[in-house]
Amino acid sequence: MEEEQQLIPMKLCSSGKEKPQADQLEFGRIFTDHMFLMDYTDDKGWHDPRIVPYEPLTVDPSAMVFHYGQSVFEGMKAYRTPDDEILLFRPQRNFKRMNHSNSRLCIPPIDERFALKAVKQLVGLEKDWIPEAEGTSLYIRPFIISTEPFLGVAPSRHYKFIIILSPVGAYYEEGIDPVKIAVENDYVRTVKGGTGEAKTGGNYAASLKAQEVADEGIAQVLWLDGVERKYIEEVGSMNVFFKIDGKVVTPALNGSILEGVTRNSVIELLKHWDVPVEERKISMEEVYQSHKAGTLEEAFGAGTAAVISPIGDLVWNHEHLEINSGKTGVTAKRLYDTLTGIQYGKIQDPFDWVEKVEEIRQSTLRASG
Ligand code: COI
Repeated sequence: MEEEQQLIPMKLCSSGKEKPQADQLEFGRIFTDHMFLMDYTDDKGWHDPRIVPYEPLTVDPSAMVFHYGQSVFEGMKAYRTPDDEILLFRPQRNFKRMNHSNSRLCIPPIDERFALKAVKQLVGLEKDWIPEAEGTSLYIRPFIISTEPFLGVAPSRHYKFIIILSPVGAYYEEGIDPVKIAVENDYVRTVKGGTGEAKTGGNYAASLKAQEVADEGIAQVLWLDGVERKYIEEVGSMNVFFKIDGKVVTPALNGSILEGVTRNSVIELLKHWDVPVEERKISMEEVYQSHKAGTLEEAFGAGTAAVISPIGDLVWNHEHLEINSGKTGVTAKRLYDTLTGIQYGKIQDPFDWVEKVEEIRQSTLRASG
């Protein structure tokens, strides 16, 4: 318990960078003054946690991450409430998932409670970077890279666990307006038994080509299963939901789909509202036929970065399926309002999903040495 009170050692910068204007905020281009770092070596385990000025890393060119991509990451956000409190949304789930990804990538597990403490301390220190405007937040990117200088193909014996922070606006240019998504028939993101369930850079590298060849105006691609190219898996940076004939359907977790924190929250909310929700295999043909029959009421993506993103146009085999007349549907809107309401502390949180972060004043730290 006593250990719980202790601060992670901090080396603070004397002058802060300029904070961005709310209307200039994009996703993930600006970073705060400080970052968290911790090292791993096979003889010492995870050690030397510290908060230091945000700056480039010195990593050996032979570090294994550059060659074989052994890395994992997470994405979460800190929100400023109208009362100027800072909230995190279900952060334990991110570190649980990070350890799941670690296991798949042969990276040693982290202490999930300690990682949460590190996030809270870093965010508490950088509180002034959390933007106030509607729809903005402080994106938190914890990640681990393999750093052993070695070119043999094997799990690295050295790692760095790093947390950086970025004040962000909407992930898509469209904001909460419906996006256009193309169904990908040729390229695949991953297959069962691969790394699809892990949050690792390689999955995203593998996704770039399809995005590059997609038409103008396509926000992201929708992936089909890697074997039959028939069943829907997920969209680039989000899980996906379809409302068909009053029921909300999302692909069941099958080993190649990322278990999204927002995905789980959407399912919990729908159940709470007694809206029928099914996690099952769903083929693109079923979505197409339901569109033809007029029973495809809504489609939307869900993810930390994107929150809830309605899909207004789904392009498959050069055919455009316009969904809900290209407008945001009632379910997507209700989910967006409720999730963001809980995240920004504007509505009651019946699930205990949010956690408070205490501010850490730099002046207090300096004064106390
Ligand atoms: C997130 O939603 O946090 C993600 O990790 C998506 C990211 C690849 C932008």
